[in-house]
Amino acid sequence: MIENKNIKKSWAEPFKIKVVEPIKMTTYEQRSKALEEAGYNTFLLKSEDVYIDLLTDSGTNAMSDYQWAGMMLGDEAYAGSKNFYYLWDNVRKYYGQPFFVPTHQGRAAEHLVSKILIKEGDYIPGNMYFTTTRLHQELAGGTFVDVIIDEAHDPDSTHQFKGNIDTQKLEDLFKKVGADKVPYVSMAGPVNMAGGQPFSMANLKEVKTLCDKYGVALWFDATRATENAYFIKTKEEGYADKTIQEIFFEMNSYFEGVWVSAKKDLMVNIGGFLATKNEKVYEEARNLVVVYEGLHTYGGLAGRDMEAMARGIEEMIEFDNIRTRIGQIEYCGQKMLEYGLPIVNPIGGHAIFMNARRFLDHITQDEFPAQTLAAAIYQDSGVRGMERGIVSSGRDPVTGKHRYPKLELVRLTFPRRVYTQAHIDVTVESVANVYDQRKSIKGLKMVYEPKYLRFFQARFEKI
Ligand code: F0G
Repeated sequence: MIENKNIKKSWAEPFKIKVVEPIKMTTYEQRSKALEEAGYNTFLLKSEDVYIDLLTDSGTNAMSDYQWAGMMLGDEAYAGSKNFYYLWDNVRKYYGQPFFVPTHQGRAAEHLVSKILIKEGDYIPGNMYFTTTRLHQELAGGTFVDVIIDEAHDPDSTHQFKGNIDTQKLEDLFKKVGADKVPYVSMAGPVNMAGGQPFSMANLKEVKTLCDKYGVALWFDATRATENAYFIKTKEEGYADKTIQEIFFEMNSYFEGVWVSAKKDLMVNIGGFLATKNEKVYEEARNLVVVYEGLHTYGGLAGRDMEAMARGIEEMIEFDNIRTRIGQIEYCGQKMLEYGLPIVNPIGGHAIFMNARRFLDHITQDEFPAQTLAAAIYQDSGVRGMERGIVSSGRDPVTGKHRYPKLELVRLTFPRRVYTQAHIDVTVESVANVYDQRKSIKGLKMVYEPKYLRFFQARFEKI
């Protein structure tokens, strides 16, 4: 027999495939036609026409056999479903937040939190905006203020915790507008729009201390919090020997409440929730959830959905699971770097973000470089990503002008447990192919613009 040397260099998925879903390769001509019909917006493509779908990791994950088995145990009672109580138990146990209201997805929880906490004229500081989060804050009468560190807006900065809040910016805001005009500080981790960049535990503690000093509540968008916990474990001093569960629990402990899109970390196809230590907020959330979502024991979900969520929480917290998830993205990013492709540094948690400004440096921001690049990648290979730049950023509600974000990115997002390393190889080769032809690519003009969250449904034409 051999000795136990324990020198394993590679990791592999901690699961094997039991069910498969066929995907279809299309021709260049078919994709060109589909793209034109979709107004050069990857959100408007039919999923049937997509080969490798890296649009989002939201609700696109593969559930485990344990989760699917749970779906058969759905207690579809209108009130008091047993799946609701099991889910509540797990939210309490893993997130450490005692009060809980389910919602049909993340933005529904954002809606409730914003409506409950924000008054007309309030300011809500946060570590970079997220599209739906900011919109709900604005619709509730608030103004979002970005207090993330400057490095987050620089795709080339290699700062390891680009999701950190600049505490000086935060304190300046408290002093300028008065802490009574700040109902809560909104912290997300990893930060989606910055490239899936985490915050550190040290920064979180500093932010908490500052919030306490000014008597301001701290709330957490915990949508992908396990990824943040993984980065703390692997990058921050003092956390290497702690489990993901311990780090996750500690992170959540600093917040008065959390909102979650369960369609990410929890690896389900639909679901979300709000959980808090604040009993008053909970009481108001229970009042409002019956207006907008459904009874407070189902919040727009079926019993089976809540069972899959409860079981997803138990799986998301396993180290092998989260390492596989982030390992895949790391693999893709390293390959792209080998090809010399311009991506956001460091490689983030849920996606690879292509730096479209650098990629298509001959296209001005008014001609939508990231939108153009996402369309070109689809045309090349049927790989679908999404724009995260000027289109996603929208218009300033006061001036009505485009916001011009520093980051002009295309996101290639990885659903959990769905694609193999070979899919990644094909994706990287396609992006490299587009890069070789980049000089021949021309920009776009917007021909239809919806009022809210325009990136979802805007239409474009070739210039
Ligand atoms: N917060 C974050 C950080 C998100 O990434 C999302 C959704 C939400 C809240 C809203 O949750 O979709 O369940 O209503 N992000 C998806 C994405 C859509 O593709 O990044 P939801």
